[in-house]
Amino acid sequence: MYGLVLPALMTMDPERAHDVALRWMDRANGVGLLGLMGKTPAPFLTKVFGLEFPNPVGLAAGLDKDAAHIDALFALGFGSVEVGTLTPRPQAGNPQPRLFRIPQQMAIINRMGFNNCGIDAAIASIERSRFMRGGKRPGVLGINIGRNKDTPNAEAAADYLYCLERAYPLADYITVNISSPNTQGLRELQEEQALRALVSQLRDGCERLSAQHGRRVPLLVKIAPDLNDDDIEAAGRVFTDLKVDGVVATNTTVSRMGVQDSARAREAGGLSGAPLLDRSTSTLRRLRSRLDESIPLVGVGGICRGADAVAKTAAGATLVQVYTGFIYRGPSLIFECVEAIRRRKVHRASGVADLK
Ligand SMILES: Cc1cc2nc3c(=O)[nH]c(=O)nc-3n(C[C@H](O)[C@H](O)[C@H](O)COP(=O)(O)O)c2cc1C
Repeated sequence: MYGLVLPALMTMDPERAHDVALRWMDRANGVGLLGLMGKTPAPFLTKVFGLEFPNPVGLAAGLDKDAAHIDALFALGFGSVEVGTLTPRPQAGNPQPRLFRIPQQMAIINRMGFNNCGIDAAIASIERSRFMRGGKRPGVLGINIGRNKDTPNAEAAADYLYCLERAYPLADYITVNISSPNTQGLRELQEEQALRALVSQLRDGCERLSAQHGRRVPLLVKIAPDLNDDDIEAAGRVFTDLKVDGVVATNTTVSRMGVQDSARAREAGGLSGAPLLDRSTSTLRRLRSRLDESIPLVGVGGICRGADAVAKTAAGATLVQVYTGFIYRGPSLIFECVEAIRRRKVHRASGVADLK
């Protein structure tokens, strides 16, 4: 079904296509027709961070920035949906155009710049959702938080702490985004000293909130695929010392490897999709070897087929997320990835050599 809709969406401006597709999806879900989009995966329970994921394939942050579509997204079969990035105050993001497709390479370049309605409005939207009002939750809800564009890094902790506090009562887990290339200076928060200072304040915030709410919400950190070996080693040290609950690897890249020939390659922003796969998986694998093995990893970046999801799990991911591949392939990608990871698990359990 998505294959029939995709050509029409591809003729539209990318941001308009995004809005139209999400609105259409909400409507179809409202009248119970979303099932026409394709098969949803059978349950494949995955326990991580003390949470039970119905399956290990999630939606990456950035598609539902304002947490306005979670009911329909869960209905498509995602095991988890990560909303955001959300900042304390609403902000418009960068001027348009700021989103560019490179269909031949199944890639996207974006410089959205954390356009979002602000954490308070997003929390209100989650509270209105069926997800919150129904009985059993259909999946795991992650809330991804960031700082406002005009907040200097020296004051960034206050932005993250504000978002942490607001997100804590509703989130199943919270992701700290310090790796978007589209907010000036943000990635500098990945440097060891800054990272240690920020994560330790957020850890303290979590302890306090856990006592207050009588519930522990896991704290994850999302990293860039452009870190060198020394950066990865330092980040691994910080994450291990401060006992973060998990790491999301990775965000988009500033590299243009694999799309150099495209006219779009000159656009500023982060590159995602198929050309990101190897770089992102390599970052994940290197971090895995430098991180305490009790800290699980979420593999994201370039997954466009089931085999790509399996490559992430082979490199050390317990969960995976998709964004760009989902735009080009639609919901069938969720089913394909869940089944590929399930097959790998069955083969490994039966002692058959690893499937790549
Ligand atoms: C248009 C667009 C917007 C994004 N916005 C965010 C964001 O707000 N926060 C975030 O952590 N990641 C954001 N991302 C990054 C994705 O979550 C993901 O890490 C990245 O795209 C790599 O995965 P993919 O190759 O499957 O797309 C965005 C990606 C795209 C394409």
